Amino acid sequence: MTGIAGRFFGSALIFAVLGMSLGLVMGMTHDHAQMPTHAHFLVVGWVSFAIYGFFYHLFPETAASRLASVHFWLAEASLIVLLFGLFQIFSGNPAGDPFAAAGSIGLLTSTILFAVIAWPSLRGR
Ligand code: HEM
Ligand code: HEM
Repeated sequence: MTGIAGRFFGSALIFAVLGMSLGLVMGMTHDHAQMPTHAHFLVVGWVSFAIYGFFYHLFPETAASRLASVHFWLAEASLIVLLFGLFQIFSGNPAGDPFAAAGSIGLLTSTILFAVIAWPSLRGR
């Protein structure tokens, strides 16, 4: 895996380790307050970003476009901002709200962008 594919998969591995570590701390402390942070670390950071990595690996022509690079950076930055916001909110700090909102909108935008990038591949080659 190289290029955008490798970068998405590499970031997924980092989110997996961080998200599971958070889950482990939650389990050990019996404090599950950060469950939504843990869940999004793993289902978005690990699972979804790994799927993006495999997709770009399987369809290298889509990975070569400038849009794919925008998708990568927007998805990564948005998830980090969303996770920061969620962590603050579930630590009892409402100042995390605007971060969660901005991260959510960015992540949704990146997903729409991915749909635009991936859709033409459905027609086959
Ligand atoms: C080291 C591995 C992991 C540990 C120690 C761990 C720990 C936990 C804990 C303690 C909870 C809270 C359960 C509750 O309060 O009901 C939780 C919830 C959750 N975990 Fe994990 N987890 C791990 C791996 C994963 C992975 C790999 C995923 C997804 C790919 C995942 C997805 C979720 C989700 C979605 C929830 C929320 C479930 C719900 O809404 O009821 N976890 N996890
Ligand atoms: C724009 C992106 C997203 C936003 C704004 C968002 C928002 C939310 C919210 C508000 C909750 C409820 C949290 C609570 O009960 O306290 C939630 C839970 C959950 N979301 Fe998302 N979500 C997003 C993306 C995703 C994606 C892409 C997935 C799966 C791949 C996902 C999987 C889940 C799961 C499994 C839960 C239950 C976890 C729990 O109970 O804590 N979310 N999400």
